Amino acid sequence: MIYSRIAGTGSYLPEKVLTNDDLVAMGVDTSDEWIRERTGIEQRHVAAEGELTSDLAEKAARKAIEAAGIEAEEIDFVILGTTSSDVVFPSTACKVQAKLGCPGGPALDVNAACTSFMYALSIADQYVRSGASKCALVMGAETLTRMLDWNDRTTCVLFGDGAGAVILKPSEEPGILSTHMHADGNYTDLLHTSVGVSSGFKENEPRAGVKVAMKGNEVFKMAVKTLGQTVVETLEANQMRQSDIDWLVPHQANYRIIAATAKKLKMDMDQVIVTVNQHGNTSAASVPLALDHGVRSGKIQRGQTMLLEAFGGGFTWASAMIRY
Ligand code: UT7
Repeated sequence: MIYSRIAGTGSYLPEKVLTNDDLVAMGVDTSDEWIRERTGIEQRHVAAEGELTSDLAEKAARKAIEAAGIEAEEIDFVILGTTSSDVVFPSTACKVQAKLGCPGGPALDVNAACTSFMYALSIADQYVRSGASKCALVMGAETLTRMLDWNDRTTCVLFGDGAGAVILKPSEEPGILSTHMHADGNYTDLLHTSVGVSSGFKENEPRAGVKVAMKGNEVFKMAVKTLGQTVVETLEANQMRQSDIDWLVPHQANYRIIAATAKKLKMDMDQVIVTVNQHGNTSAASVPLALDHGVRSGKIQRGQTMLLEAFGGGFTWASAMIRY
């Protein structure tokens, strides 16, 4: 039996840091206290003018390539989860593939909002396990701050920019044990943008009216409920108990959502990788950023078992059980 195994991880955060107090200084009607208490966020990173999603993804990918001990030319499958592609087309994955110098294999973007990386990971896992890919690059990268309305305090304090990447290679040892992807398109109104190529843009608004709109409280409740069900589904699929998991690597939207999922798993918070305080919600980049943080900080060790999960616009949600 062939499994796909994470050979290396990498991540990248833009240099510019925006603290909660910086937001207050910018005139956002909020406070450091409110943001910390309701979300756990202390700061987020913001891409520089001209710094694109593909630039962030390339930097994360190069670190993953180095950690995996491979040459970029070995990569035969490139998949990038993002909601903030450089341009409508070609895909940002194609741009990253060209920058890395590994042309020839398929390169594609996946958009499942904050769940995009988890979808990308699941797809790449199928390619590697079927033998269609011998070396897959899987990324999540966002410049989501470009989609924020800085006058809307209910969204602009939440998001940040960044990128994370993993290299997947075939292995006789597990590896990715299972992945679970879901969506329910009945909830598009709770978390969405209202403009686009097909819907049209708004000429007189910044960035042509592209901005995140969210009914936060309703999304919060759905996220807690759905992620609780997802972790149970993932445990059952692997015939595992809560105590079999060493690490929870969750989507980093809100500390309170993360803590609720950890509670469902009866896990202590010191078994949970938390980066939301430093990164904010980096959407598709949040899980691979947290994973790389967990690995590079020496917390996540080879042979340990971890549960990855995410929830986002769509709604979409997904999980993966992985032996690192
Ligand atoms: O990654 C994709 C998935 N996204 C998520 O999972 C996000 C899920 N939602 C959340 O994390 C939370 O719902 C938020 C952090 C967005 C909001 O927290 P909340 O505890 O649900 O607050 P709320 O929306 O119920 O608002 C409470 C109050 C309101 O004032 P009133 O009506 O009680 O007077 C808001 O106007 O807080 C006010 N408020 C703020 N105050 C200061 C909302 N945003 C802010 C702000 N600063 N930035």
